[in-house]
Amino acid sequence: MAPPNRPSERETDPARAQRWDPARYAEHGRFVADLAGPLVALLAPRPDDEILDLGCGDGALTASIAPRCRRIVGVDASPDQVQAARALGLDARVADGHALPFDSEFDAIVTNAALHWMTRPDDAIDGMWRALRPGGRVAGEMGGAGNVARISGALVDALGRRGIDGESRFPWYFPTPSAYRRKLAARGFEVTEMALVERPTTLPGDISGWLETFAEPFLGAVAADRRPAMIAEVRDALEPVLYRPGTGWVADYVRLRFLAVKPRAAEG
Ligand code: BEZ
Repeated sequence: MAPPNRPSERETDPARAQRWDPARYAEHGRFVADLAGPLVALLAPRPDDEILDLGCGDGALTASIAPRCRRIVGVDASPDQVQAARALGLDARVADGHALPFDSEFDAIVTNAALHWMTRPDDAIDGMWRALRPGGRVAGEMGGAGNVARISGALVDALGRRGIDGESRFPWYFPTPSAYRRKLAARGFEVTEMALVERPTTLPGDISGWLETFAEPFLGAVAADRRPAMIAEVRDALEPVLYRPGTGWVADYVRLRFLAVKPRAAEG
């Protein structure tokens, strides 16, 4: 097996890091787990399954699956989120999704809104492969090509007006269905489902809450006392396109949803 690629500056520079505050996430990100119905249907948990939740966050989705399987383990790179998941009584562990520490332990992996934060996708796929027993499956949902394009465009523009290259701070990996299918197949997975789904998503509050919760790699480019002005500017730019009177703020989400199987005859 090839060693994991080296982390990029994006991953190691603290000013580009995404930090997760469980209280803020509960306020502005609860919809992420609430909208996971189609993903859980694809996973179709079985009573005997041992399942890994890759990128479990605060454990809301993990907890909803737990009664439907024998065992579920959540992993997340954020110690604060893992602590929140443990407070729900879950087996949750801190782990880097680029270097999963499991070897043929699970029948299934579920991963929701996490893989797009892993900018070395081959390493993430390799870790999922190793974590699964032969015959195991991955049910995944992540941002796909075009996801939050309006929002990220407004952030890049706002940084550009400040003389900062916002594109270089783009923190996400949003692949096309064909590109991600190729990567899974290259590792040996049989891809049985792969769909790009536009899912405009009504936010629970103002878009500024979403920006503060999810867009830290962009906001970290400016001094803390200048961030409120930048957020207000991005909000103003997005209002004509993402604010719907009577509905509220609707984010331009595009999901990539897939099911991939590690063949029974597979080794490693
Ligand atoms: C997403 O779930 O698609 C997403 C969440 C936060 C930032 C970017 C994308």
